[in-house]
Amino acid sequence: METQSRGHLRGGGCAPSERTASCLLLILITGVCCVNALEMNTGKIPFLEAVNGSTVLLPCTYASCIGITNLYFKWEYNDNGTMQKLVDSVIPTDNMEPNKVIIYRERVEYVGTIKGNNISILLWNITFEDAGVYSCFGKNPKEKGKNHTAFFTLSVVEELRVIDNTLTIIIASCVGGSIAFLMAFMLIKNFTLFVLAKIEEKNKECLVTSSGIDNTENGLSGSKSTPKKA
Ligand SMILES: *[C@@H]1O[C@H](CO)[C@@H](O)[C@H](O)[C@H]1NC(C)=O
Ligand SMILES: *[C@@H]1O[C@H](CO)[C@@H](O)[C@H](O)[C@H]1NC(C)=O
Ligand SMILES: *[C@@H]1O[C@H](CO)[C@@H](O)[C@H](O)[C@H]1NC(C)=O
Ligand SMILES: *[C@@H]1O[C@H](CO)[C@@H](O)[C@H](O)[C@H]1NC(C)=O
Ligand SMILES: *[C@@H]1O[C@H](CO)[C@@H](O)[C@H](O)[C@H]1NC(C)=O
Repeated sequence: METQSRGHLRGGGCAPSERTASCLLLILITGVCCVNALEMNTGKIPFLEAVNGSTVLLPCTYASCIGITNLYFKWEYNDNGTMQKLVDSVIPTDNMEPNKVIIYRERVEYVGTIKGNNISILLWNITFEDAGVYSCFGKNPKEKGKNHTAFFTLSVVEELRVIDNTLTIIIASCVGGSIAFLMAFMLIKNFTLFVLAKIEEKNKECLVTSSGIDNTENGLSGSKSTPKKA
């Protein structure tokens, strides 16, 4: 949305050369203003794989340029389509801890702090049934009726062998990629040399230079292989 409105401005905005500075300023200001809506954020990687029995953090932060008053937030668990409330509360203002945070389910602990706009929760001693999609929901009454949600996916495994696998895959694909790159490089190099040789051949059709190169190459490889056999 943000980039869209910025792009829009650039397209239909100010005169091209004359007021570049003021135009830039305008874009900056509107850019900042465009993020005034509430934003819920469950981190750069909203996905976690954890071992059964462990305790996990479900991260969530919020951001709002226009400030908040009575921000309502809740954590929910998507249990086969029906949303089960885990936690909810209201944060009165930007610098007040939330009112009483109500916990709807056992093994859930609210660990948010107003510092950092943090409304994360802990899920203690997870079981396989805890796997699934969690949503962090926020609603700022300053924006009438607008809901904002960020999702976090938890998967529960017996042991963390999968991480080794992904590492192996990463290493394997790195090595594979390097080999592929090398091969491609060699191919391109050889092809270029071939083309260059052809061009040279055409240029010096009367002279017998290109075959001379071939001969030396053959001679070299031949002399290398013969001592090995002997
Ligand atoms: C995790 O699940 C496996 C298989 O059900 C079980 O053997 C193991 O004890 C569990 N670990 C914990 C910490 O609950
Ligand atoms: C969830 O949905 C699947 C298929 O839609 C069904 O097999 C399963 O029993 C459901 N689980 C619960 C807990 O409702
Ligand atoms: C988690 O499991 C440990 C060990 O089984 C137990 O002592 C603890 O009370 C459990 N915590 C919760 C919140 O269930
Ligand atoms: C939120 O608070 C929890 C508990 O204090 C902490 O572990 C987590 O790193 C915080 N998250 C962010 C994004 O600040
Ligand atoms: C926002 O969420 C509330 C539940 O908290 C729901 O009743 C309402 O319909 C939602 N509004 C929109 C516009 O989705």
